[in-house]
Amino acid sequence: MTTNFKCPVCGLVLHGEGRTLKCENNHCFDLAKHGYVNLLQSQKSSKKRHGDDTLMVKARQDFLEKGYYNNLCEELVKSVLQNVNREMDVADLGCGECWYTERVYKALCENNINATVFGIDISKQALIAGSKRCKALKLAVASTAEIPLPDESCDVVICVFAPYSESEVLRILKRGGLFIKAFPLEEHLIELKAVIYDKPYKNEVSIRFDSGFEKVSLASVKNEILLETNEDIINLFKMTPYYYKTGKSDQQKIESLTSLKTKTEFGVLTLKKN
Ligand SMILES: C[S@@+](CC[C@H](N)C(=O)[O-])C[C@H]1O[C@@H](n2cnc3c(N)ncnc32)[C@H](O)[C@@H]1O
Ligand SMILES: [Zn+2]
Repeated sequence: MTTNFKCPVCGLVLHGEGRTLKCENNHCFDLAKHGYVNLLQSQKSSKKRHGDDTLMVKARQDFLEKGYYNNLCEELVKSVLQNVNREMDVADLGCGECWYTERVYKALCENNINATVFGIDISKQALIAGSKRCKALKLAVASTAEIPLPDESCDVVICVFAPYSESEVLRILKRGGLFIKAFPLEEHLIELKAVIYDKPYKNEVSIRFDSGFEKVSLASVKNEILLETNEDIINLFKMTPYYYKTGKSDQQKIESLTSLKTKTEFGVLTLKKN
């Protein structure tokens, strides 16, 4: 059975009628021009900016297209393919502009799996880019704290560097379903940080999870990348959380940098719902 988004107002399933999604209580949500649907109950939040803005989305898109994080994507795809069914519903939480989401979808299709792949992100700008990238994905602007998918509907949930709620992941996963999350390890981008900060700190890594999960595997994906243009260096910097936290004078330190070799280090943790 194919899963559909659920109504953020009453929780009933939304069915498509042309370019509108509608529940039995007549709550309607129009598909945007590019194909995503906005299910964010924005009146609940007073914040003007939701998630990543256009600048961050563009920087990440340009950077990822150069292939610097291909090894992480390959590990992610491998993890998704370790436990497959003929039909699968997959959700990518904080999917951004769907660079990984599209690759996961294509890998499932190449393995003859009838896959429905959902992408959830709070940033409209990210989903405009995601919708343009891959029409086959089902994309909704929503918070990962209130995922607009029914209980026990997903075979796999993935999350790459995005905030998520463990209780929501457990709610939407089927029993035996996988939660695959990617996160930075201790020395990820340490050389980039060393350019900006006098005392670059290492990332704190904590591998804790709810007792509703059991651990399946933990992979370390490590590499050293050589960025040979200032544009790539700046794009990488803009993708990081340091960009908005760094003052003007520290930001200027990378403005004239034309080459940078830096470590990339990711953990890919696979958990199974008990
Ligand atoms: C570091 S980016 C990662 C994007 C994508 N997974 C990737 O790696 O290319 C984090 C993403 O999480 C989104 N985000 C932040 N808070 C969120 C929330 N509460 N609910 C849904 N998405 C959120 C941002 O808009 C952004 O697209
Ligand atoms: Zn409704």
